[in-house]
Amino acid sequence: MIIGSLGAGEVAQAFAIHLLKAGHQVLLSNSRGPSSLEQLVSKLDKGARAVTMDEAAKAPIVVLAVPWPKVEEVLGKLPDWEGRILIDATNHFLLPSMELADLKGRVSSEIVSELAPSAKVVKALNTLYASNLARDPKVGKGRRVIFVSGDAGAKAEVGGLLKGLGFAVIDLGSLNEGGRAQQVGNGLAGVDLVQFGD
Ligand SMILES: NC(=O)c1ccc[n+]([C@@H]2O[C@H](COP(=O)([O-])OP(=O)(O)OC[C@H]3O[C@@H](n4cnc5c(N)ncnc54)[C@H](OP(=O)(O)O)[C@@H]3O)[C@@H](O)[C@H]2O)c1
Repeated sequence: MIIGSLGAGEVAQAFAIHLLKAGHQVLLSNSRGPSSLEQLVSKLDKGARAVTMDEAAKAPIVVLAVPWPKVEEVLGKLPDWEGRILIDATNHFLLPSMELADLKGRVSSEIVSELAPSAKVVKALNTLYASNLARDPKVGKGRRVIFVSGDAGAKAEVGGLLKGLGFAVIDLGSLNEGGRAQQVGNGLAGVDLVQFGD
């Protein structure tokens, strides 16, 4: 598969390691353009490419992995999503304070969904520290868990992709319900869970 990434930092790289190892293609992008990512790409496995943000966003599955204060700007610049899948890996930290943005009781992924109205949004990858996400998903006889919430069809596709990488996937329902549980500040944030059995 081809997976685009808006952002090429810690989370994007941690996910890319697994995708590339499994033979997928990864299109990495940032605000500074493809030339700023050449060195990074040369260190990654075959299948990684540095592209513009527009190119990354055209992939069938796209990961949003930019700082929360940049989300509106990033999504505002991109063309229509036309039903493509957007994995929201963000957490709503403000920078540099690392205080949480005031969402006025809303769910951060629902805000993302409003900013990318024709995308099928799946909240995933945000609960693990990037250093844990980068690790082998197989832990003894168990598998590291990734939670998913959001669009049903897109969750099935993203879930299949994640399982193919070796992760266990737990479906938490809608963005409103599961997305809230996954959101930083709530119960599952930072939890690194290993599932044994099916
Ligand atoms: N680090 C973690 O452990 C962790 C875990 C789970 C979730 N998260 C969340 O995931 C998101 C990414 O975190 P991270 O740790 O990967 O951050 P990071 O290492 O700082 O990387 C952020 C990436 O976003 C790019 N970026 C920044 N502003 C941009 C813009 N306006 N347009 C396009 N690209 C832009 C940066 O590149 P340029 O500045 O060169 O454009 C960089 O490649 C955040 O929302 C964070 O809260 C982080």
